[in-house]
Amino acid sequence: MMLPRLQLLRELLSEDGSIWVTIDDNEGHYLKVLMDEVFGRGNFVSTIIWGNFYGRSGTAAISPAHNYIHCYSPSGDRWKHVRGLLPRSEESASKYKNPDNNPRGFWRLGPIFAAEERHEGLMYTITTPSGRKVAPPKGSHWRMLEADFWKMYADDRISFGASGDNIPAVKLFLNEVQAGVVPRSIWSHGEAGHTQDAKREVMALFPGDTPFGTPKPEKLIAQIVQIATNPNDLVLDSFLGSGTTAAVAHKMGRRWIGIEMGEHAATHCLPRLQKVIDGEQGGISKPVNWQGGGSFRFMALGAPIFDEYGRIHPDVRFATLAAFIWQQETGAAWNASAVQPGTPYLGTHYQLDSYLRSPDMRESPISFTKKPLFACYLLFNGILGDKRPASGNVLTREVLDALLALHAQTPEPAAPLLVFGEACRLGPARLEQAKVTFRHIPYDVKAR
Ligand SMILES: C[S@@+](CC[C@H](N)C(=O)[O-])C[C@H]1O[C@@H](n2cnc3c(N)ncnc32)[C@H](O)[C@@H]1O
Repeated sequence: MMLPRLQLLRELLSEDGSIWVTIDDNEGHYLKVLMDEVFGRGNFVSTIIWGNFYGRSGTAAISPAHNYIHCYSPSGDRWKHVRGLLPRSEESASKYKNPDNNPRGFWRLGPIFAAEERHEGLMYTITTPSGRKVAPPKGSHWRMLEADFWKMYADDRISFGASGDNIPAVKLFLNEVQAGVVPRSIWSHGEAGHTQDAKREVMALFPGDTPFGTPKPEKLIAQIVQIATNPNDLVLDSFLGSGTTAAVAHKMGRRWIGIEMGEHAATHCLPRLQKVIDGEQGGISKPVNWQGGGSFRFMALGAPIFDEYGRIHPDVRFATLAAFIWQQETGAAWNASAVQPGTPYLGTHYQLDSYLRSPDMRESPISFTKKPLFACYLLFNGILGDKRPASGNVLTREVLDALLALHAQTPEPAAPLLVFGEACRLGPARLEQAKVTFRHIPYDVKAR
């Protein structure tokens, strides 16, 4: 179920974007391996442990208390340069004070020595303003050379305490440390909310309703949105459930797309997001000062590819079937704008060889060799101009001649042809001679 969806999501992900998947202990490790395969091990960022359940199950051998959140980015290790920081907690900010009315603002003290004795240049003695001589504490060294220490002292970045007799310490100014804190891989329910929070949020929106088994609290999604995106970025949740991702993205000023196949798309997601627009005050509304506003569109999918008898649905147009077949054959999204419209040629598919990866596979591929595997053609809806049933969509001698003429104009005229049509009037020898593999519509079009 997940493989084709992950492959599609990979196509939709931007270069500096990231994908986050929440999963429990039953499937978490299988999904990790699957995601390694789809996104590449070198693009693995972290598996976060989210403490989603604070109670204890009396019937469990070991009571489950966490979910996993797998995170990957196509930019691999470079993603750390674009990801966002988390807000510094009030507790950590409250450690900064300004007792000397310092023009640089709030500061706290940090040690100027570190473990291990080092070379002489870092083992000097310092004379305090009170006249006492201090060396680095036993088994440690000063973090800077002596000249740098006195430069920092002259710049009011060193404190010997009010008495002038303390071992020196460095002043760390709040406005000079990073604007936020680097996210860590364990998220407590205090930090990111828990399943009960999420159920309460849904019940507040829909009184008397029974919430889904696994809704996500707004705080959890807000933490991910904060790390993964900037205002106005695009957030996609292709399994929207109760609509939390869309609600949070909206309140945080991101653009969003939610996909949900269940009835609750209309019964829950739609009214929930209308309430958000109206200024609903649950979840993260207060911390982000949400006042309402904005808009969205609610859309239903068009006709499915197959009708109830397994035939191609009469409402399906050429481009829809083309995108479906290209995805089926290549695992990638069809780029309609890369080929000339109105012809059966869908594109040439290449095998990308990534042998030039670094040996430990942690780097992105250094270069690709491109080998054409096949060019794909679709005979459907009389694309060659002959609308009679059993003619335009059938691979006859004339149609093959037309395809071969078209093929000669493509970037890889020597590549074999993969032709989809409703019937084939040619024998195996002719097909082999023309390097054609024929696939039958609808039987060779696979529903997933
Ligand atoms: C675990 S819930 C998602 C929870 C959700 N992200 C939240 O915060 O509440 C999974 C949802 O995905 C939907 N779903 C499953 N397969 C789908 C598909 N192929 N396309 C769209 N939605 C799908 C299910 O109907 C279900 O509502």
